[in-house]
Amino acid sequence: MGNIARTDPLVVALRRLALACALALPALASAADPGGTFQPTHVSPTPDRSAGLQAFAQIERVLLHARCLNCHVPDGPLQGDAKRVHFPPVQRGVDGKGVPPLQCATCHATQNSPLAHAPPGLESDGQPGWHMPPAKMKMSWLGLSGPALCKVFRDPKTNGGRSLAMLEEHMVTDHLVAWGWQPGPGRELPPLAKPAFDEQVRVWIRNGAPCDTREPLRTSVGSTRAAADEAFLRNLRDIAGSGALANMTHVSPRSQP
Ligand code: HEC
Ligand code: HEC
Repeated sequence: MGNIARTDPLVVALRRLALACALALPALASAADPGGTFQPTHVSPTPDRSAGLQAFAQIERVLLHARCLNCHVPDGPLQGDAKRVHFPPVQRGVDGKGVPPLQCATCHATQNSPLAHAPPGLESDGQPGWHMPPAKMKMSWLGLSGPALCKVFRDPKTNGGRSLAMLEEHMVTDHLVAWGWQPGPGRELPPLAKPAFDEQVRVWIRNGAPCDTREPLRTSVGSTRAAADEAFLRNLRDIAGSGALANMTHVSPRSQP
């Protein structure tokens, strides 16, 4: 942008946009890998497609298990090992957190109950965190298998805008995914142990994250969430020059709801 006058209307508009984004950013940044320890798996220079496809078949067994599928559906959530319709028949709502008065948090607290058939619980930032994907990006796997499931799972347009690195990060570090292996009493565990599942994710990515036999293999995993946030910030700082956004990393953390 070097030779564009600073008063150019486009520049002014971009600055306003940048400032608006900057105010929204701390929430984004604090959602990143808290320990910052996650390292993405890179694609091998000599990927083995059939090893990758075999790994996805193992991943699929977990994705389609009740502990995962019950939230990854097109309509209201399912319940129990038999994947029956949730009782009472709650709705997703726009944000995946239900429709008042039956928001998920009305019944799903911050912890699992010690009683069988009580609602499972989960904590996010000190609040009840149990919810399903939002209406605009349902991330539904119901009725899918093989390449069709793999595509929905891998494509950023249907997986919540995730690169392969973010997908791996989500599966390895996300507490909602981890809940699947600590589901409370009376609920079956997924068919693979968590470390074995994480390993299959790495094998799949190392071998080009294949989905079927025709598509080209992936050569790059893209960025992690933290790296994407950092690049986004850098971009905003470049647009804003040394002015308004120079101190934006000091914007106070998101306010309490
Ligand atoms: C309580 C509901 C719930 C359960 C149970 C659940 N998820 Fe999710 N899952 C979500 C929500 C909500 C999102 C969207 C998160 C976001 O994008 O902010 C999501 C997103 C994902 C994504 C990224 C989207 C995609 O399609 O690739 C993956 C992968 C995923 N979950 C894996 C799992 C796995 C594996 C399990 C089981 C071990 C599981 N989930 C169980 C609610 C759930
Ligand atoms: C009126 C109370 C209530 C509300 C509101 C509620 N749930 Fe539940 N939910 C339950 C109960 C009780 C169970 C456990 C049923 C059992 O184990 O037999 C449960 C179980 C589940 C399960 C099954 C977990 C598993 O792996 O078997 C999912 C998924 C789920 N709820 C999602 C949601 C979502 C998403 C919302 C909000 C959109 C929600 N629930 C709102 C009471 C509720």
